[in-house]
Amino acid sequence: MKIFIKNSKEIKKIYKSCQLAVEVLEMIKNYIIPGISTEEINNICHNYITNIQKAKSATLGYKGFPKSVCISINDVVCHGIPNKKEILKNGDIVNIDVTVLYKNYYGDTSKMFLVGNNVSKKSKLLCLTAQKSLYKAINILKPGIRLYKIGQTIQKYVESKNFSVVRNYCGHGIGKNFHEDPQILHYKSYDYGIILKSGMIFTIEPMINIGHHGVYVMNDNWTVKTIDKTNSAQYEHTVLITDGGSKVLTIRKEENIFIKK
Ligand code: MF3
Ligand code: CO
Ligand code: CO
Repeated sequence: MKIFIKNSKEIKKIYKSCQLAVEVLEMIKNYIIPGISTEEINNICHNYITNIQKAKSATLGYKGFPKSVCISINDVVCHGIPNKKEILKNGDIVNIDVTVLYKNYYGDTSKMFLVGNNVSKKSKLLCLTAQKSLYKAINILKPGIRLYKIGQTIQKYVESKNFSVVRNYCGHGIGKNFHEDPQILHYKSYDYGIILKSGMIFTIEPMINIGHHGVYVMNDNWTVKTIDKTNSAQYEHTVLITDGGSKVLTIRKEENIFIKK
């Protein structure tokens, strides 16, 4: 296990990649309406990343993943594959997960979109709880904190709202590699003794379900779904540990108000 501490030059580059990923999420929001296919959303993102940003999608071809973003609807937990037969409908909740590679550094972020005006109260609360659990975790970050506290914080909050935390997927260190050490669990596990240090960069990306936390992978070998068919939500940020606390490298304009400094 090797956790890289990033220097200021690397941090700048990772921040740039992160902001490109953010721009994709901001660009795509007006397209998230009933009737559009996930393939069309993918293609708009792909063209934007490739032609406007002159960057690369990190997911395209990653371990054989065939598309440029992951799009996960309703009971899909993560790694949904965009498809021309899959059409967004009024009331859906959708995660779009964007990872950009620019000048050899990665940036990774995702958020939920509500489709149309008919999303159920429960699903709205699910999305908000996923987002708030991420913020709660971000707000404890600073040098000296034990890594397991992140998962503990997320799980405690999510379960207080009577939702469940998916165990099978985790956040990850990121930089010159898409996924590197450490693994960031979103539930309380063992204290492996890892302590946060200034210059660490990793993602936090809790996936939470309305019902049971159990999930399975479909026959396409990618799409992850809840076993009990209840909806799932996820938010993801890439964060830097700083001397004074943390910096969210994938912060969006609309978000500033939420994060306490
Ligand atoms: N972006 C995802 C993450 O947060 C990984 C997607 S891998 C893919 O780590 F192959 F499914 F695209
Ligand atoms: Co990630
Ligand atoms: Co991601």
